[in-house]
Amino acid sequence: MVKICCIGAGYVGGPTMAVIALKCPAVEVVVVDISVARINAWNSDQLPIYEPGLDDVGEEPLFSTDVEKHVFEADIIFVSVNTPTKTSGLGAGKAADLTYWESAARMIADVSKSDKIVVEKSTVPVKTAEAIEKILTHNSKGVNYQILSNPEFLAEGTAIQDLFNPDRVLIGGRETPEGQKAVQVLKAVYAQWVPEDRIITSNLWSAELTKLTANAFLADRISSVNSLTALCEATGADVTEVAYSVGMDSRISPKFLNASVGFGGSCFQKDILNLVYICECNGLPEVAEYWKHVIRINDNQKSRFVNRVVASMFNTVSGKKIAVLGFSFKKDTGDTRETPAIDVCKGLLADKASISIYDPQVTEDQIQRDLAMNKFDWDHPIHLQPTSPATVKQVSVTWDAYEATKGAHGICILTEWDEFKGLDYQKIYDNMQKPAFLFDGRNVVDTEKLRAIGFIVHSIGKPLDPWLT
Ligand code: NAD
Ligand code: UDX
Repeated sequence: MVKICCIGAGYVGGPTMAVIALKCPAVEVVVVDISVARINAWNSDQLPIYEPGLDDVGEEPLFSTDVEKHVFEADIIFVSVNTPTKTSGLGAGKAADLTYWESAARMIADVSKSDKIVVEKSTVPVKTAEAIEKILTHNSKGVNYQILSNPEFLAEGTAIQDLFNPDRVLIGGRETPEGQKAVQVLKAVYAQWVPEDRIITSNLWSAELTKLTANAFLADRISSVNSLTALCEATGADVTEVAYSVGMDSRISPKFLNASVGFGGSCFQKDILNLVYICECNGLPEVAEYWKHVIRINDNQKSRFVNRVVASMFNTVSGKKIAVLGFSFKKDTGDTRETPAIDVCKGLLADKASISIYDPQVTEDQIQRDLAMNKFDWDHPIHLQPTSPATVKQVSVTWDAYEATKGAHGICILTEWDEFKGLDYQKIYDNMQKPAFLFDGRNVVDTEKLRAIGFIVHSIGKPLDPWLT
């Protein structure tokens, strides 16, 4: 029996191993993590992540903190640890911090007594496999290691369906007979449920670079459409209509063209910054500049939103109650890493607003921690440990959209949760201060219906409310 051990029980490690355990009954699957709190949560009824369908996967891998035992016993080791942006030192604010990856690799070298296939599941800079190979082989006690790159393309909120039915699985390996043999071993695992023509193999560096490129392209589409929203607002064009017509071109496709308050999540910004840094290190400043703009447009989109709120509300939100509906970085997840809501709330707080937040999946502790934390600190495992966060006094968190909006001067919709489409906006309007403003950062509400109720509505990239012109 083959044994798989995955190091890192997070958004990627947990769901991916649950699906491998389900689809490959002949394989023993264990997920290990240094965070005792995380492993305890996986072993309880209160899973550490909210992911639709995860509860129903059925087959469960073993979750354990006994990292060394399971690594020692494994034939295939997936490494799915954090690779956040460096917060200090060389490359701070851009380069990937490989501390967690390197410590996992050193631990593998320390405990291994049999040959291992080590799989990069984390998103890493291109050429990381070479560094990992050096750490492993220089510390090996006669053990042979094969490093594979097998980047993960799942998106949060749809992780289970993405894993059951992936567009493609990519496996990169060394072009040696041993490297190719390892590729085939991993391919056989995925072939249990993924059609063979969707399992792509490549060299190691192509696989590593593909992951960064795919995320850069996806984020680029969002910044492209977001960059045009201000122009739509200024001219009376409607960004949804423009995106729909543009997306009908089969060369462009309709996906990932939803204008928004900005993209968030643990991957896009981090991976583009990583790509920028690699380009700079390879003497390619023009290419680095090109990708930096994707992030600049995203930052600009968030501050443009804050400016619109403040400017519309008579140039000040000081002492005014602003209800924030949605805090997670997208619907169907409780994940708040790099959510645009953090920057928007900080912008409103800087203008002395009083904020009341409702999100169906994010706790008060999490929100307070996010608003108190420095940029780039969020993805370092220390923050997984339960601590009492500093409290931002002007922020309150409720478990109900009606409570959050009661007595508010304005509402900001920052996540596209389905329930925000079906709220009783007449009731909400009746309980708000007048004039009642609504700023829709996700284009989820019916602008005309809300204007008919009496709201002053601003929707991203849509013709402006007559009040705002
Ligand atoms: P995560 O923070 O949810 O999980 C990572 C886990 O690794 C944490 O629980 C942490 O405690 C653990 N860990 C860190 N160092 C460890 C060590 N030395 N030994 C044992 N455990 C250790 O992160 P994630 O969202 O699952 O992302 C993991 C990787 O996958 C990152 O490189 C990310 O870029 C990439 N990725 C993420 C997504 C996503 O949607 N979240 C999608 C594709 C790829
Ligand atoms: C992304 C990639 O999609 C996935 O392939 C990769 O493995 C990890 O990074 P994720 O960050 O989980 O996944 O979610 P995604 O659906 O890509 O959304 C990222 C952000 O972009 C969210 O804030 C979302 O709201 C925003 N977005 C997405 C838009 O603003 N407009 C769109 O059209 C699509």
